[in-house]
Amino acid sequence: MQTIDKNIKEKIVLALDVDTLEEAKEMILELKDYVGVFKVGLQLYTQNGNEIIDFMKEQGLEFFLDVKLMDIPNTVAKASENIIKRGASFYNIHTFGGKAMMEASVQSAKSTAKDLGYKEPIVLGVTVLTSISDEVLAAELEIPSTASDYVLKLAKLAKESGLDGVVASTFEARRIKEVCGQDFKVLCPGIRPEWSLKNDQKRAATPKVALSEGADFLVIGRAVTAAENRLDAMQKIYKEMGEI
Ligand code: C5P
Repeated sequence: MQTIDKNIKEKIVLALDVDTLEEAKEMILELKDYVGVFKVGLQLYTQNGNEIIDFMKEQGLEFFLDVKLMDIPNTVAKASENIIKRGASFYNIHTFGGKAMMEASVQSAKSTAKDLGYKEPIVLGVTVLTSISDEVLAAELEIPSTASDYVLKLAKLAKESGLDGVVASTFEARRIKEVCGQDFKVLCPGIRPEWSLKNDQKRAATPKVALSEGADFLVIGRAVTAAENRLDAMQKIYKEMGEI
């Protein structure tokens, strides 16, 4: 690819779901021209969190700490401050932690970034995990609502608490934006181009559909990371996104 479309690049969040530092570094170096933000989840973070963060900082890359914080407000505020000091431009917290916790996190993250002269971070809320079904919500958690209605309720609470957006499936993006406003960011995982395997994603969407439903960021995982030719897979996704 000759030129990288900046409008596409800033929407691409690559999930670094690997176990070793070497694998992560190799992937970063191979794909960095095509990725807006690298996502470090709990798998890599608990293995090599500090090293991979240092590496991305040396490379001048943006990263998202997908650590899904949830604790009492004071603890989450301190952890949020530390995440910003480490240089993350995105991180997430559980909306289930309630309004006081979310407000404390946002306040702490944004004021830390301001004091350090860093770009304003994007704080995202995790609503209902996709592993939680309507049955689990009702029988185990005793929440009398469908998962998709509850996602919307939690997204509203996230918005009221000052969060920048939420993590949600493509199929919820449009409703969330209608209720929380077009500026409220939606980051969508479960992205699968037509040609890639669905793996364990039950409600996958193509990049093209995700964009047309209003997704601001697309989490690209195994469609690229498990492809035989990662660069080629990424270029095909760019092509699809450019064809909207
Ligand atoms: O490889 P795949 O594209 O399925 O990767 C999806 C990424 O998005 C993983 O890092 C996974 O943890 C994350 N994710 C998800 N579904 C959610 C929230 C996050 O698949 N509801």
